[in-house]
Amino acid sequence: MNPVVKTTLRTHTCGQLNSNFVTQTVSLIGWVHRRRDMGKLIFIDLRDRYGMTQIVFNPDNNASIHETAKELRTEFVVRVTGKVIARDAGNINKNIVTGAIEIAADQLEILSRAKTPPFELNDERLKIDEDVRLEYRYLDLRRNFMQEPLIFRHKLAQVVRNYFTEQEFIEVETPMLMKSTPEGARDYLVPSRVHAGKFYALPQSPQIYKQLLMVSGFDRYFQIVKCFRDEDLRSDRQPEFTQVDVEMSFVDMDDILNTMESLMGKIFKELKGIDISLPLKRMSYLEAVSSYGSDKPDLRFGMKIHYLDELVKDSEFKVFKDVLSHKDGAVGCIKVEGQAAAFSRKKVDELTEYMKEFDVKGIATIKVEDGGVTSSISKFLTPETLAAITQLVEAKAGDIILMVAHQRKIVQSALGSLRVKLAEELKLINESDFNLLWVLDFPLFEYDAEEKRYIAMHHPFTAPMDRDLEKMDSDPASVYAKAYDLVLNGNEIGGGSIRIHKKDIQNKMFDALNMSQEERELKFGFLLKAFEYGVPPHGGIALGFDRLTAVLTGRKSIRDVIAFPKTNSAVSLMDHAPTEVDPRQLKDLHIGIIK
Ligand code: AMO
Repeated sequence: MNPVVKTTLRTHTCGQLNSNFVTQTVSLIGWVHRRRDMGKLIFIDLRDRYGMTQIVFNPDNNASIHETAKELRTEFVVRVTGKVIARDAGNINKNIVTGAIEIAADQLEILSRAKTPPFELNDERLKIDEDVRLEYRYLDLRRNFMQEPLIFRHKLAQVVRNYFTEQEFIEVETPMLMKSTPEGARDYLVPSRVHAGKFYALPQSPQIYKQLLMVSGFDRYFQIVKCFRDEDLRSDRQPEFTQVDVEMSFVDMDDILNTMESLMGKIFKELKGIDISLPLKRMSYLEAVSSYGSDKPDLRFGMKIHYLDELVKDSEFKVFKDVLSHKDGAVGCIKVEGQAAAFSRKKVDELTEYMKEFDVKGIATIKVEDGGVTSSISKFLTPETLAAITQLVEAKAGDIILMVAHQRKIVQSALGSLRVKLAEELKLINESDFNLLWVLDFPLFEYDAEEKRYIAMHHPFTAPMDRDLEKMDSDPASVYAKAYDLVLNGNEIGGGSIRIHKKDIQNKMFDALNMSQEERELKFGFLLKAFEYGVPPHGGIALGFDRLTAVLTGRKSIRDVIAFPKTNSAVSLMDHAPTEVDPRQLKDLHIGIIK
C-alpha cells in the first residue's frame, strides 16, 4: 500500500492492516459498512475505497465510547483510534487482506451521521432499480462493484497515455465550442450571448481539428476526449461519451492498424494479463454482414449464416419461391447444434415472435435426428434438397436448422440478431473470452432512402480505395473506403479511416454527396482552405473509451463505467438535467421558447 494515503486524520486505510501491524496504534476513517451488537461487544466493519477493517468496542477497554458505538448506524462516517490486535483463530477471514486482525477501539468520533440509504449498499447480489441507483448515484458509487470499473477506467487511461507517449504522440486539447457541421448525429448547440442568434456546437468528435493538427505538422496526435451526440440512446450509447482519438501523418492503413493493435496488446497484457495474438484477424464488411448479419460480428461462437437460394429456388414452397423471385430476395439459415429435441413447436413459435421485430413472418425448420431428417416444410422439399441443405451446413444428428426468407438485408439482420440471442440463451459464450477483429473494406457511401441521396458511411473525409477512384461519379455504390472498425466481442469499439488529402478527390466526394458549392464552402470552407497550404497524407481512428472499458470489465452497459451517466432519454436523474432556466438567462441569450 502506498504510504501517501496517510493524512493528518488517518494513519492507514481500511484495506491496509495485517498481522505485521499487531500492537501498533492506528487511526482509521471510513463509513460504517455493518454493525453487529453482540450485547457486550459491538463490532463494526469500517469501509473506505481500499477495503474493510473490523473494529471492536469493548466496554472493558473504554466504557464511554462503547456507549457512543451503540448510536452507530450504517453509512455514518467515523474516525476510530485503537490498537491492532490479532483475531482469534476461529474468527480469521481469509477472504480479505485485513481478515487476521481487528482494531480494539479506544477513541471514536462520529464525523457525520447518515440517513438510512434508499437501498442496501452492503449486499451486491440485490437487484436494485437502476433509476433509484441513478438518482442516488453518489451512494451507488460507494459500492465496490461500482468503484471497480471506474478504477479500471483510470488505469486504462494511464496505459493509453503511456503507450502513445512512448510512440511519440502528442496529446493536444481541441475546442469544446466549435462550429456546427452536423453529419451523422444531431449537434448539441450552445447559444452565444455576445453574438445574438448564433450558436456554437459541442464536438461530435474532434475530427476536423485533428486533421488540422496534421496540417500543422504535429505528425502524431492523440487525445482522451469528450464527444457529444444528440442521437437515440441505448446501452452502448450516451449523449456525452469519451473517445481515444488518434491521427497520424505520412501513413497508410497498415500503419494505423499496427499502431492500434500494439496498443490493444499492451492493454490486454497490462490490465488483464492476457497475451492476445497479433496481428488481429481481418474480415471484410461484406463477409461480416453476409456470414454474421452484422458489421460487428461476435466471433466467440459459430452459427454462421448460410444461404439456400440455389438449393430451394425450385422448391414448391410458396414463401421461398416468392421471395426468390425478387432480385434482392434471399433464403438464409443458421444451424443450432444439439437443439433438435429441445426446440419444440412452442420454442420455434417464440423465436418466430422475436423475428417479427424484423418483419420476418415465419421460421421453417429442419431437424436432423437419429431416425432421419424432418422438416416443418417437408412436403415442399424433396429428400434430395433436404440432404443438400444439411450437407451445406454440415448438420449432424441432434442439430436443428432455422430458415427464414425475406429481402437479403432483412434476412441478414434478422439471423444476425437471432444468432446472438440464441448464443446468449444457450450460454454458448464464454464470458472470459475476448475476440478482437478488424472489419475492413466498407462501402464509401450508403444510400439514404429518406433523403434520396448518398451519404458518407463514415464521414466525408474518408478516402476511397485507389482502385475505385474512377467509379466515384459513375457508380458511387460500388466504391469502397479505406476505412476500418475495431470490433471486440460483437461491439464496435473503434472506427477510423485514411483521409482524403487531395482536393480533386474531396470535390468528387462532395459531388457524390450532392453537396452544393455553397454548402461545402459554408460547412467545411476553413478545412479546405487549410488543405491549400500543404497537407500530408494522413489518417486516424477513434476508440470508444466507455465501450472498451465496459467490455473489459464485463459490464453490459456503458452507464456502469461512467461516473454520472444519463438515462436512455438523456436525463440525469440525480440533478434533473436538462432543466428549464431562468427567463433572464434566456433573454441574455436572445432566446424565446415556443410553447
Ligand atoms: P465514430 O463515429 O465511429 O468515429 O466513433 C468512434 C467510436 O466512438 C464510439 N461511440 C460512442 N460511444 C458511446 N456513445 C456514443 N454515442 C458513441 N458514438 C460513438 C464507438 C465508435 O466506434 N471521428 C471519427 C473517428 C475517425 O475517423 O478517426 C469518429 O468519431 O466505439
